[in-house]
Amino acid sequence: MKTPRLYADLAWLWPYLSPPGDYVEEAALLNELIAERLGHGPKRILELGAGGGHTLVHLCEAGAEASRMVGGWDGIHEGVAVDLSEPMLANCRALIPGVETHLGDMRSVRLGKTFDAVLIHDAVDYLLSEDDIRQTLDTVAAHLEPGGLAFIAPTYTADTFVDGEVADDGTTIEDAQAVTYFSYVHDPDPSDTTFEMILLYLIRSPADATPLRRVEVVEDRHTCGLFSIARWLSLMGGAGFDASLVEQEGGAWSLFLGRLRG
Ligand SMILES: C[S@@+](CC[C@H](N)C(=O)[O-])C[C@H]1O[C@@H](n2cnc3c(N)ncnc32)[C@H](O)[C@@H]1O
Repeated sequence: MKTPRLYADLAWLWPYLSPPGDYVEEAALLNELIAERLGHGPKRILELGAGGGHTLVHLCEAGAEASRMVGGWDGIHEGVAVDLSEPMLANCRALIPGVETHLGDMRSVRLGKTFDAVLIHDAVDYLLSEDDIRQTLDTVAAHLEPGGLAFIAPTYTADTFVDGEVADDGTTIEDAQAVTYFSYVHDPDPSDTTFEMILLYLIRSPADATPLRRVEVVEDRHTCGLFSIARWLSLMGGAGFDASLVEQEGGAWSLFLGRLRG
């Protein structure tokens, strides 16, 4: 699949489009579930598809300072980030100084060590087939000991998908440069396992641009995967996890929790 521009030449937009402060509640829930299942105290957490580290920053010790800046709490865990995009990992290192990062594909990466928990947040949206999911769940299992936790959090499942949904996140301003964006999701073929997310960015040049300020309009189309809750649970079960859907009120994601069987 062609890399979306958001994870390539336009990766600099990511911290402005989806700021770390937007992830505090999600990170808090993960923190709570980790403490409930594995006890309090520092844990080793691997995030696959960690992107700019906007979730990880709230969970890991190295991100404590940045997390406080966005209203989170002092992270206590040791976080490691894997992503397919070097520009996104560069964002992650800028946000979480000293964080360990690895360039890799969640379907195949092997770090040769295990963690207490493995997280795949919205990056899991980019798995397009059941084979992709099976390979990725093997990666997750390869990085856990029996009893270790897997958190898998797709933005949509086939049960929660809203065809034609628009997210208008308004305007954010970096220095003199303004960026406005919105996203639209639709499912061209409900009989397959994918949907399309179309992102539009309006990038206005800085106030001192000469001879005139201009607005560049960029269209960035992402192909994403769509699987039912029942399929997710079944695939996780098949990969060796005791899996369940975490009940939440509202929430911008579905969260599956798996415990690796012995
Ligand atoms: C929406 S961003 C994730 C943002 C992240 N949750 C954060 O906190 O900043 C999706 C990320 O998934 C990554 N990605 C997509 N497919 C991947 C794969 N097969 N393996 C690893 N990373 C992948 C992209 O490079 C991108 O950084």
